[in-house]
Amino acid sequence: MSPTNFFNEKYRPQYHFTPMKNWMNDPNGMVYFQGEYHLFYQYHPESTVWGPMHWGHAVSSDMIHWEHLPIALFPDEIGFIFSGSVVVDPCDSTGFFNGGEGLVAIFTHAGEHPVTRKPRQVQSLAYSKDKGRTWTKYEGNPVLEEPAIADFRDPKVIWYEEERKWIMVLAAGNHVRFYSSNDMKSWDFESAFGKTEGSHQGVWECPDLFSLPIDGVHRWVLIVSIGDDPAYHEGSRTQYFVGDFNGKTFMNDNDPDVVLWLDFGRDNYAGVTWSDVPKEDGRRLFIGWMSNWKYANHVPTSTWRSAMTLPRSLSLTSTSEGTRLVQKPVHEVSVLREPVTSIKRTITLVPDENLLKDIKSKTFELKASFTIKEAAVFGLKVHQSNEEETIIGFNSQRSVLYVDRRKSGDLGFHDAFSCVQEMAVLEKEHVSLHIFVDKSSVEVFVNEGKQVLTSLIFPKEESDGIELFLDQGVVDLHSLDVFNYHSIWTKGES
Ligand code: FRU
Repeated sequence: MSPTNFFNEKYRPQYHFTPMKNWMNDPNGMVYFQGEYHLFYQYHPESTVWGPMHWGHAVSSDMIHWEHLPIALFPDEIGFIFSGSVVVDPCDSTGFFNGGEGLVAIFTHAGEHPVTRKPRQVQSLAYSKDKGRTWTKYEGNPVLEEPAIADFRDPKVIWYEEERKWIMVLAAGNHVRFYSSNDMKSWDFESAFGKTEGSHQGVWECPDLFSLPIDGVHRWVLIVSIGDDPAYHEGSRTQYFVGDFNGKTFMNDNDPDVVLWLDFGRDNYAGVTWSDVPKEDGRRLFIGWMSNWKYANHVPTSTWRSAMTLPRSLSLTSTSEGTRLVQKPVHEVSVLREPVTSIKRTITLVPDENLLKDIKSKTFELKASFTIKEAAVFGLKVHQSNEEETIIGFNSQRSVLYVDRRKSGDLGFHDAFSCVQEMAVLEKEHVSLHIFVDKSSVEVFVNEGKQVLTSLIFPKEESDGIELFLDQGVVDLHSLDVFNYHSIWTKGES
């Protein structure tokens, strides 16, 4: 591959993480250690479709520019290396580091039972003494098995300071299970959560557990992804619960049938969080796999498959319905900005007058805020040409924000791809949109990240127009900024 290919390759994201070649799914083992952000990911190095899973690896100092590193973990006699997490073991609780500190990976081995030859999923460890560059698998693997549970995977380990112990949450088909440990080598079962809570429109996968401050206290958030089930056209999605965790059990703040979606688009799955707290402005960060099991193996990219979402920082907010997650793109994205236009005065939108008609871009950030004076349908069209458009619209009468990708470009690779994605927006009068467009994706942050919608699209190269449209009603635009985005690819990556 020539070094410039990444700039020109059809559909190749210019500022979202993609592997240089072949198949990628879930982000794994996100960790900040000694000044570096690590991204490990489910990787099949032999093909552009899912297969024997490895952990691919990349590092970054800003979560935007990534250095691609050699594969970190390879399948072995116990099985493929499925999803999991990485922690810093600062006081050598594992005994792997001769009293020093290092990185420990906790992951699912997916293989066969050595005697019965039946499929099984077990949890294992690996450790690194050289900042994640090389890994040694623990000789006592696996460290946790539950022979009676077939789907038993995606361990997320956190340090629970109140009782000075490790907590593991993992997915077990239709619920999550919590275990605790002092050394990560032996684990005690604490509790199960979720059999009758939230959405069960798919197998539970990739749980994540963390706490965040709100109004002077801490609340706990449990993220649970749900896999693709042929009965539901949305495919794989991610939900979350807000509640309390006492080192043993998770208690849901909401009624069991309340479902909180992390993202209202089709293409944010298996996301995980991590903290960069040793940094002064340390945050709870999130990154997701920007695809959907419904069609991930069929998307029309040729040399690689899948990208990650932008890294986002998480916080909590109080609403009339309870505590909810807020997601914002990390501020580091601003290194990519090249200002294109900035409007800082109020303009009443006029139908058929596109204020952005002179801007052409396929990789940009757009921020705008509006007041709706009379019931309106308005918004933005991106990756636009005579034949194609992706509409990011707001219908104030229905209180709905939508992304319509029915004319977004290539749709033919799967029946479920052509669709309108909608979310209810409570605020009817003032709407702010923060939009990130790349060559094959759109991420929409609504009202300062209170709601998010992430969607893949596969437009033609020539679809580079942007339109600010008004179909109905009266709308004032208060401010608008557009930044063209530089590519994160650099010369020499071939
Ligand atoms: C989620 C998932 C995980 C599993 C991994 C396998 O997308 O199905 O549950 O560990 O992918 O690649």
